[in-house]
Amino acid sequence: MLAPRAAIDAHREEAAPPILFNDLATQQARIRERVERRLREVLDHGRYIDGPEIEELEARLASAVGVSHCIACSSGTDALLMALLACGLRPGDAVMVPAFTYNATANAVVLAGGVPAFVDVDPASFMMDSADLAERVRAARSRGLRPRVVLAVDLFGAPADYAALREVCQAEGLTLYADAAQSFGGELAGRRVGSLAAATATSFYPGKALGGYGDGGALFTDDPGFAAACRSVRWHGTDEQRVESVRVGINGRMSSFQAAVLLEKEAIFWDEREARRRVAAVYDERLAGLAEPQAVPPGARSGCGYHTVAVDHRDRVAERMAAEGVPTAVYYRVPLHRMAAFAAYASGEAHPAAESVAGRVLSLPMHAYLTDAQAHRVCDALERSLGR
Ligand SMILES: Cc1ncc(COP(=O)(O)O)c(C=O)c1O
Repeated sequence: MLAPRAAIDAHREEAAPPILFNDLATQQARIRERVERRLREVLDHGRYIDGPEIEELEARLASAVGVSHCIACSSGTDALLMALLACGLRPGDAVMVPAFTYNATANAVVLAGGVPAFVDVDPASFMMDSADLAERVRAARSRGLRPRVVLAVDLFGAPADYAALREVCQAEGLTLYADAAQSFGGELAGRRVGSLAAATATSFYPGKALGGYGDGGALFTDDPGFAAACRSVRWHGTDEQRVESVRVGINGRMSSFQAAVLLEKEAIFWDEREARRRVAAVYDERLAGLAEPQAVPPGARSGCGYHTVAVDHRDRVAERMAAEGVPTAVYYRVPLHRMAAFAAYASGEAHPAAESVAGRVLSLPMHAYLTDAQAHRVCDALERSLGR
């Protein structure tokens, strides 16, 4: 006997697994036993702060990205803050930041005593525009500021154009730091994110490509003196014996439990990155000519923690995709120079590319457990939502 039509449709719906923007549950099932064993080890040794997992994680991550020092810490924001406090900003020192990024980038600058000076972005890569950087450095000087640091931000998994930014830094006598909260696993000219700037901050927020079960972050550098200063800042600015304050610091420590989780997450990270790259390849092929892909700098490869495209009528497209059961995300509807907290630093300058990008970017589902069929369903929904 044939099953009634409604029953067949219901079965079909049941059979098609929902598309998730990120799938931490499937990932957890893969590593659950190993994570539980690691967490039990922390319970057994009882060194909840500064346990052996911290040193193990720092060594593992430093070696993975190809630098000599990794300082694990409490969040990506605190990693930025540690670097900016360690470099000793003085009143009137400016830190050049892109106008289109997460607010944490500029928060860290202000908290460290610096002045954020906004730089417009490249409309194709969505990241700091090196030609505009040179102009904004001169504009900052003409406002009486002393530009000291360029804090590049790697957006949506891809490294910024460090070669071009470094040229401006060298010409202007500035130090280049990286906010790589979104780009762990990315590469540029054969070198991994973490080794592309004098100091690199990353975030282990749960939704990141390498995310913990809570907040966490890390700072990478090759400079032993700078690493020692960051370690001091992380522990309230104390000396090596942790007796006296030698600088102003923060409590930026990572919990041993968090390091335990991250060790098991890192063990599968590079395999997961390949799976995400396969999803990105489907998106790139299917969406060519439909949506504008994020342009990556020459020689760069995204870590594929996100997959973000630019489209016209973005909000309408996102709504239509949601109606088809495809979740998307819009990161940063408002550029920093338009936010109340930072308006005073914006000095009335315009950042037209940042404004345009903020209205057009759309992030698609991206994780290692998306099937090929699901990636195609995302593309079908985007195609229909664009009215093609
Ligand atoms: C570009 C950027 N910078 C900094 C941060 C701050 O990281 P955290 O949330 O770990 O403090 C984030 C986090 O989303 C980010 O995306």
